Amino acid sequence: MSLESVILSKVKESPFDTRELSKKLKIDYNKLIQAMKSLEYNKVLECKIQVLNEIVLTESGKKCLTAGTPESRMFHAIPENGIKKSELMKQFGREGQPTFGQCMKCGWIRSEKIETKEQEKEKQPQQKGKKKKKQRPDLMLFRKVEEINDRVLEDLKIIHDKMSEKLNKKTLDILKRRKLITTIQTKSFVVSQGPEYEKYTTTQKIEYQTCLKKGMLQKDNWKSHTFKKYNFKSLGVPTQGGSLQPILKVRSEMRKAFLEMGFEEMKTNRYVESSFWNFDALFQPQQHPARDAHDTFFMSNPKKAKQIPEELMKKVKTTHETGGYGSIGWRYKWSEEESRKNLLRTHTTAVSSRTLREISKEPFKPRRFFSIDRVFRNETLDATHLAEFHQVEGFIVDKNLSLGDLIGVISEFFTKLGMEKLKFKAAYNPYTEPSMEIFAFHNGLNKWIEIGNSGIFRPEMIQPLFSGTRFNDYKEDVNLSVIAWGLSVERPTMIQYQNKDIRNLVGHTVDLQVVKKGPICRLGFPRKVIKEKKMEEEIKKEKN
Ligand code: PHE
Repeated sequence: MSLESVILSKVKESPFDTRELSKKLKIDYNKLIQAMKSLEYNKVLECKIQVLNEIVLTESGKKCLTAGTPESRMFHAIPENGIKKSELMKQFGREGQPTFGQCMKCGWIRSEKIETKEQEKEKQPQQKGKKKKKQRPDLMLFRKVEEINDRVLEDLKIIHDKMSEKLNKKTLDILKRRKLITTIQTKSFVVSQGPEYEKYTTTQKIEYQTCLKKGMLQKDNWKSHTFKKYNFKSLGVPTQGGSLQPILKVRSEMRKAFLEMGFEEMKTNRYVESSFWNFDALFQPQQHPARDAHDTFFMSNPKKAKQIPEELMKKVKTTHETGGYGSIGWRYKWSEEESRKNLLRTHTTAVSSRTLREISKEPFKPRRFFSIDRVFRNETLDATHLAEFHQVEGFIVDKNLSLGDLIGVISEFFTKLGMEKLKFKAAYNPYTEPSMEIFAFHNGLNKWIEIGNSGIFRPEMIQPLFSGTRFNDYKEDVNLSVIAWGLSVERPTMIQYQNKDIRNLVGHTVDLQVVKKGPICRLGFPRKVIKEKKMEEEIKKEKN
């Protein structure tokens, strides 16, 4: 017999409850509901949802049925000639004190004070200067009755037998407070015959067509078929599409913010970079600790970079050694060999230095650039550090840019990402002056957190890159300036997705379900909500 015929014949006898029927006939509950829903849709059946609150035993409640209630166990643990309370408490652990209370309340045990030797000593006058902790006197416990009548156990048996209506509210409340019972809610359907029941069961079984077929048109018999109605209420199967990793989601939001602000994207397709573009072109001295193998991954093959523009290299060398452009330089012997060492780029500012050189070949025009890509550092891995991460970088080239412009553009960018409360703090970078660290107030964590670094690129970095190029309408008296900032993508991602360990975001411990089911990223969302709320309030005011 098909499931449908089982349902139809059962409902003919009398209305039934789906949970009971599934248990009685051992039918898979979901399959039963599926079949029932389809018949309900065609009005063959009528279904009413029924919510049942059932009182059941918790795990501790069930334990009482087999091992006895804690109070009866305690009663039986007291030998005929009594036991020290401290000893009994040791046996019962954390349960001890409340169970002792229960036993006393039931009047099953009695206690007698005893004095230990230490307490006797305490009674004697104390020596000067020595203060001893006061100890509670131990008790001796004895059985007060011969037999006990364990009401709680009786009540739990009643609940186990599904007759909880026999117990009054007070009793149930006490058992609930002792976490021996709990209420669970179950939903089921009461199924009865629908208006189409008679017709459906008496007429010959109709074969429903699900779509119009070619043959029906050719034979011109489509009118004689009965078509199944569309069920617009049914939910579709969730689609299995590709899903973006959280970092990529945040990355695409950041990219959107930059594009909205008129930024162009830089080419970041170069993980292997020369020390020249990564450090030297940024006026970072060759003895700088960041250039140590402890902080940087150097390449063993190919070890040396071949193509470095000769002329620019000379300018960079002179600036490092003796300065220029109003600077005295770092004053050391600059090594070409050191500069040719290949490495995995340690920041995307290497991309900025290359881009600045590229645009210097064109006539001057104010421009803004951004990049978001991977960088590498020789870090010890922990919850907040990986040896590779993503950096977001932005810079603007124009004339007479000031710290005010930098603060303004950074504020606009971070406001778009939903971080409105910003603070700037003076900092140091070899290639920027002045430099500022950026802090944002994180509402969830309720504290200020560092989110980035920024500054105005130093003339010692900018001038060698631009001098002798078409950008050359830059003159000493015209203040060509580049403001820039950078931050990691991982930090806002960890905040956005409330992830405390970066290793759950990148690497083999990533939960693919999180990637598949994670919500889309809305970095600017809090701000939009605030705006919408303000608008709602204004509309309300106007109405009043
Ligand atoms: N390169 C810096 C870093 O790695 C960020 C930065 C970029 C600072 C541009 C100032 C200007 O932290």
